[in-house]
Amino acid sequence: MNVIFLAPNYPSEMQHYTRGLAEVGARVLGVGEAPLESLPESLKGHMASYLQVPRLLDEDDVIARVEQWTRGHTIARVEGLWEPVVILAARLRERLGVAGMSLHTVRGFRDKQLMKERVAAAGLRVPHSAKCGTEAQVRAAAEACGFPLIVKPIDGAGSADTYRVDSAEELDRVINAVRHIRVVSVEEFVDGEEFTYDAICVDGKPVYENVAQYLPRPLIARSNEWISPVIITIRDLKQAPIAEGIAFGRKVVRALNMGTGFVHMEWYRTASGEVVFGEIGCRPGGAHLVDQMNFTSDVDLFREWARAVCHRRIMTSTPRAYNVAIIFKRAQGQGRISRIDGLEAFGSRYGKYVVADTLSAVGTPRRNWKNTLLSDGFLILRHPEFAEAKRIAEAAATQITLYAE
Ligand SMILES: Nc1ncnc2c1ncn2[C@@H]1O[C@H](COP(=O)(O)OP(=O)(O)O)[C@@H](O)[C@H]1O
Ligand SMILES: [Mg+2]
Repeated sequence: MNVIFLAPNYPSEMQHYTRGLAEVGARVLGVGEAPLESLPESLKGHMASYLQVPRLLDEDDVIARVEQWTRGHTIARVEGLWEPVVILAARLRERLGVAGMSLHTVRGFRDKQLMKERVAAAGLRVPHSAKCGTEAQVRAAAEACGFPLIVKPIDGAGSADTYRVDSAEELDRVINAVRHIRVVSVEEFVDGEEFTYDAICVDGKPVYENVAQYLPRPLIARSNEWISPVIITIRDLKQAPIAEGIAFGRKVVRALNMGTGFVHMEWYRTASGEVVFGEIGCRPGGAHLVDQMNFTSDVDLFREWARAVCHRRIMTSTPRAYNVAIIFKRAQGQGRISRIDGLEAFGSRYGKYVVADTLSAVGTPRRNWKNTLLSDGFLILRHPEFAEAKRIAEAAATQITLYAE
């Protein structure tokens, strides 16, 4: 079975999906920008063939090249799990006559306004919003919406260029700050807790599901450098508030006519208990969320995704044994990591719960915390009780400090 996989090396977890495809028997035809020689041996070993293209995001050019490259071969699937290539994957499927989600369907996962319209049309609660291409439209939408409100790019990621606006003065400032963005969404600010709904679907039916909680909400985590953002997968999906989010997620998946593959949705739960739609992608969550899911159930979802894509099923029964927390650390100061305080004490108390530690070693240059949630490294820990997992994660967040100079 020939499977075209776009961007097999970037972001780095794509190498795991490439491996997964090879492990379930696919002949992986990789398409990426990096020269073949520069790719890790392990990745090369999982691909049957590789096409280097000058610019992966130049869709017309890539389509022409792939069409020529695959002429005379039968292609069974075209997949791409990196958000910027999901439209390209759909266009390639249409051009090559390969089964899978259409361009029309995938647009519903990429354009946040269209997404909300389709979800709302199914009778589901979405934030009131307006798509705005001019300053006048932003002002009119803000007038109609009232404060507080959110201004964000229509196709953003990682909370970049996203602003909460509480007053007319702030609106003026934010209008200036988003001038470089062509189209923004102005929307009602939804107050509440923030969760994910993640699923692997086969022909639209979720065959694996997960929920994780963001602590604090991503926009707050992204706006305050001193915070160590935490994300915790929730072991017990049957408890009432979580089950409601899952039921909501299933309806969203149906409303958007999801096919086969991963979805990563975000949803809010307000103080009154209402579930409100956030956003959804037809790809897995980033920032090691799939690693967290794997630690939650001791499974390999990189491979199970591949099995769903190639064989329309997954193998694993996935008992949820743990709540898995990831804690992202940001150093104080600039330059290189100079010392880490509190790590030894934390390790002696809670080391047995830690399953991954990538904290930047002394001497490592700081990463830009605005560009990557990974910041100056992270810890992953797990515990069967949610309250304990959260307490230990909070200890890692507050008692371990990296310094840079
Ligand atoms: N309507 C809203 N109400 C409250 N918070 C919001 C709203 N829209 C976005 N946010 C905040 O901004 C973050 C980023 O927005 P989101 O729509 O998830 O875009 P992305 O994650 O693609 O940047 C959300 O996780 C949430 O914390
Ligand atoms: Mg988001």
